[in-house]
Amino acid sequence: MRDTVLLLGQTLSFDTSPFGTAVQDAARHERRGAVLIENGKVAATGRAEDLCAAHPQAARRDFGDGLIMAGFVDAHVHYPQTGIIASWGKRLIDWLESYTFPEEVRFADPAYARQVAARYLDLTASHGTTTMASFCTIHPASVDAFFAEAQARGQRVVAGKTCMDRNAPEGLRDTAQSAYDDSRALLQRWHGVDRLEYAITPRFSPTSTPEQLEAMGALWAEHPACLMQTHLSEQTDEIAWVKELFPKARDYLETYEMFGLLGERGLYGHAIHLEPRERAALSEIGASLIHCPTSNTFIGSGLFDMAGLIAEGPRIGLATDTGGGSSFSMLRTMAAAYEIGQLRHSPLHPAQLLWLATAGSAAALHMGDRIGNLAPGIEADLVVLDLASTPDIAQRTERADDLWEAVFPTIMMGDDRAVSEVFIAGRAISER
Ligand code: GUN
Ligand code: ZN
Repeated sequence: MRDTVLLLGQTLSFDTSPFGTAVQDAARHERRGAVLIENGKVAATGRAEDLCAAHPQAARRDFGDGLIMAGFVDAHVHYPQTGIIASWGKRLIDWLESYTFPEEVRFADPAYARQVAARYLDLTASHGTTTMASFCTIHPASVDAFFAEAQARGQRVVAGKTCMDRNAPEGLRDTAQSAYDDSRALLQRWHGVDRLEYAITPRFSPTSTPEQLEAMGALWAEHPACLMQTHLSEQTDEIAWVKELFPKARDYLETYEMFGLLGERGLYGHAIHLEPRERAALSEIGASLIHCPTSNTFIGSGLFDMAGLIAEGPRIGLATDTGGGSSFSMLRTMAAAYEIGQLRHSPLHPAQLLWLATAGSAAALHMGDRIGNLAPGIEADLVVLDLASTPDIAQRTERADDLWEAVFPTIMMGDDRAVSEVFIAGRAISER
């Protein structure tokens, strides 16, 4: 059958999180493994020998020593910032005003939005990213563009109209009412269509009036199955500004909380400089914190407390934060997460990094039952990594004694050359 294919190679999946459980018990590695794909989903995983015997008729693709695993899940991006990635010399507020806002104004043109959405999805697929949660711009057409391009590629994505009604330039402000109306119309148009999910998206407290935050909270209460994405406590200057704008709030999180914008399905990007009260409230409600390591060093924001927060219990996802982040690659993002862990004296194991970039981010997006792993019934969004993609990596991998030593050089030094193939809903992108 055309829709059935057996992939052969090394395989990696997770039975549980390698944070709470020893790596050897949490991760499942087959040196010579197989993944059976049927109708866009993983039908079976196991030893190559067993699956080849059980499915002699299936078409086969043999990746040799290639590592077959879940495609990467990028839990916080701004696709409209594709064109301004790697812009020099500014910290958060200046960076937004100098680079980000002028670029986002251009998305008033639907043709431009469509062009950047296509470019962004092509670039990220070449880096092995199969799902992402993206901010769009204030323009509804920027959301239509992203969803239409993702739909054409068969991708599972989350996106929403970025809402801002103050502290943003002319051409980049909506109102409390129009943000509510436009977000609601987009949600009704796209949420649950094919593999697309709408996220209610107030940019961050400084660019929304209390009235707008209230309207976003009301919309979320009316559509509690939707995710809500925003930014939280990224830079100390930003936090001081939030204090000025919301003098009655005890802390940054409370500016969301008081308008109904703290919830289990909330995604809070950055979350670096948290007060004990904020940490406790986020953990208690089971919110998702999204770690954006290349962004946090690039914009000079600070060091996310992975070890401390993992122990407290909120869900944690990993993200590029394109284009505040300095890379489209989740390999580079894992490398940056490792480096930040080192600066905090708690290095992350390769299994933990790979889990964060797949199952962990999928769980943060409340999609862990559909994507982010290799297991029967999970959607077949996969990446195949070449662990010896370049001579510098290959000479190190050659000495490796186990999978973790073999994959770590690719995490630290790899790029899109390490991505041999990507499957989206069971279809190889090389055959598109
Ligand atoms: N805070 C508010 N908007 C943004 C954004 O676009 N990027 C980052 N990194 N932080 C933000
Ligand atoms: Zn962001």
